[in-house]
Amino acid sequence: MRGVGSGPSGHTLSLRLRLIGLVALIFALSLALGGTIACLNASRSVEREMSSAIAVAQQTIEAAVAGLGRSREPEHELEQLVASFRGNRHLRVTLAGQESAVALPATDAPPLARVPDWFVRLMAVPPSRVRLPIRFGGRDYGAITVETVPHNEILEVWNEFGDSLLILALFSAPTMLLIYVFVGHALRPLDRMARGLASIGRGDYGVRLDGPLPPELSRLRDSFNRMAAQLAGMSVENRRLNEQLLNLQEQERSELARDLHDEVGPFLFAINIDAANIRRHAEAGRLASIASHAAAIGEAIGHLQRQVKSMLGRLRPIGLAEFGLIEAIANLIEFWRRRYPEIAFHLAIAPEAEGCSELLETTIYRIVQECLSNAVRHGQPAAIDIAVAHERRGGPVGELRVTVSDDGSGMRSGSGLGYGLIGMGERVKAMGGSLSVASYPGAGLSVTARLPLAARAVA
Ligand SMILES: Nc1ncnc2c1ncn2[C@@H]1O[C@H](COP(=O)(O)OP(=O)(O)OP(=O)(O)O)[C@@H](O)[C@H]1O
Ligand SMILES: [Mg+2]
Repeated sequence: MRGVGSGPSGHTLSLRLRLIGLVALIFALSLALGGTIACLNASRSVEREMSSAIAVAQQTIEAAVAGLGRSREPEHELEQLVASFRGNRHLRVTLAGQESAVALPATDAPPLARVPDWFVRLMAVPPSRVRLPIRFGGRDYGAITVETVPHNEILEVWNEFGDSLLILALFSAPTMLLIYVFVGHALRPLDRMARGLASIGRGDYGVRLDGPLPPELSRLRDSFNRMAAQLAGMSVENRRLNEQLLNLQEQERSELARDLHDEVGPFLFAINIDAANIRRHAEAGRLASIASHAAAIGEAIGHLQRQVKSMLGRLRPIGLAEFGLIEAIANLIEFWRRRYPEIAFHLAIAPEAEGCSELLETTIYRIVQECLSNAVRHGQPAAIDIAVAHERRGGPVGELRVTVSDDGSGMRSGSGLGYGLIGMGERVKAMGGSLSVASYPGAGLSVTARLPLAARAVA
């Protein structure tokens, strides 16, 4: 028994890649979905932050402007008010207006170069602007404009996105690598099994799978090993059957040759001598002697006819084709009844048994023949029952159950199998049926063969 080793194969690799592709797709989809949701949330929160910043700024400016009426230098304080917003991360505050108003940039626009345009568009934070006219003490000081500048917030979100993406990449790359390695490892036994099956396909049944496996695959491995062992057993059995067949053929041929030599040859020789004597007596005119030689020839021919008939009977059961199975079995019983008149024979054959395939009829005949010969040879029974019944179970058109039971001694302890029971078993197996032998020591023996009716002989 040889074990099959492990090794890479194109098939496992492609399944591996497919799994990796699937995992990558799931990562990409979750990234897209998570990104969209995060984008929407971020956009909303930037928007909220901008509007609250603009509201706070408006309140601060309005409160400050209300106090300016008492100031001696309102323009200067106004400028200081606007200047106090310088450096604000969310707002740009400018003062613009009438003749005395001074234009002042409140904040520098932060650089947005690092954020791609598409991302800014994706965030879609609408610009917001409030214009607050400044008028007190009967004088117009222009207006303070407060504008939202979401750039800083967007940059922050963009940086957060980048960090998340980096974490995801750091997580997914080793995950995929792990899956790749694990799947490859897990699939390796399948590769071994595929190579084992290929060996079995080539007729090498000695292959066995070994080594520890996960439970799912170990069941598969055990089934594989059982199948291989069964095939190996069947192959040995086949070889044995073939050998036996050849031996039987040889044996049959040598028996026929011996019969032809011993039984036919001398009689042909005797006929030849008698014919020569007849010729000689006829030529000499001794007619009285001719009759005895002619009678001798007649006797020899009679013997030859009996001999040829018995040889034909061995080649093929006599009467099976001519009279049918029922009649042939009845003749068989008659044969033994003449020799053992004290045994009571009972025969019951279902009509379905008649007219089935010639092979099936011959099989049934041979089973009954061997069982009867065994019973009278080994069992000393008082009665033998022979039954061929039709049963609906088994094959599509049912099966025939052949039973031969006797009330003799049953199988004696220590008696082994001869060719009779083995040959019977092989015949039944070749027809797709089953054979069972039940022995009751001191009470008899019963042989049952089940033969599917639509059976085809196994090639
Ligand atoms: N009806 C029976 N009653 C008692 N013993 C039996 C009966 N049939 C078979 N046996 C026992 O089973 C053994 C095997 O039978 P089997 O027909 O296989 O061989 P065999 O009859 O001894 O020889 P072979 O059939 O090869 O000439 C027999 O030797 C006998 O001991
Ligand atoms: Mg026998």
